[in-house]
Amino acid sequence: MNVLFVCLGNICRSPMAEAMFKQMVDEAGLNDKINVDSAGTSNEEEGNGPHPGAAKTMRAHGLATDGLVSRPITLQDFDWADYIICMDNMNKYNLQRIAPAKDRNKIHLAYEVIPEKAGQEIPDPWYTHRFEDTYNSLNETLPLWLDKISQKLD
Ligand code: 4NP
Repeated sequence: MNVLFVCLGNICRSPMAEAMFKQMVDEAGLNDKINVDSAGTSNEEEGNGPHPGAAKTMRAHGLATDGLVSRPITLQDFDWADYIICMDNMNKYNLQRIAPAKDRNKIHLAYEVIPEKAGQEIPDPWYTHRFEDTYNSLNETLPLWLDKISQKLD
């Protein structure tokens, strides 16, 4: 199963999600069954590592930041991914606009996995600087994604 996290710049929210989800997959012993990657809808930050604020929050939670380099999503990603999990409605709108029709049903908002918060967004910390809030939002949604995706494994 292939999981792709997507935000706008791929330097704050989606690399944090990638690092956190990789750790969760690792701890669940599912390394050989679930692959994790991240990308941005924009190419603005291409080649850059995580935002210093995101990196600081990741390190504070024991997550490695090496190997996380921003890149824009490609058509190949839509084919590769089984789940494309994005952060806000703008990400979702842009993804739906560029996705091949056959892959459109792979696109999900992170909060969709919590029914009472289904429409909620994970705001852009690039503007808010609230990187711990981003971590907390991801920490409440990602374990549920792992449960859901684990149930689809054979
Ligand atoms: P992210 O945050 O989408 O969570 O990675 C942003 C990073 C960069 C920009 C916007 C959002 N930017 O406009 O360059």
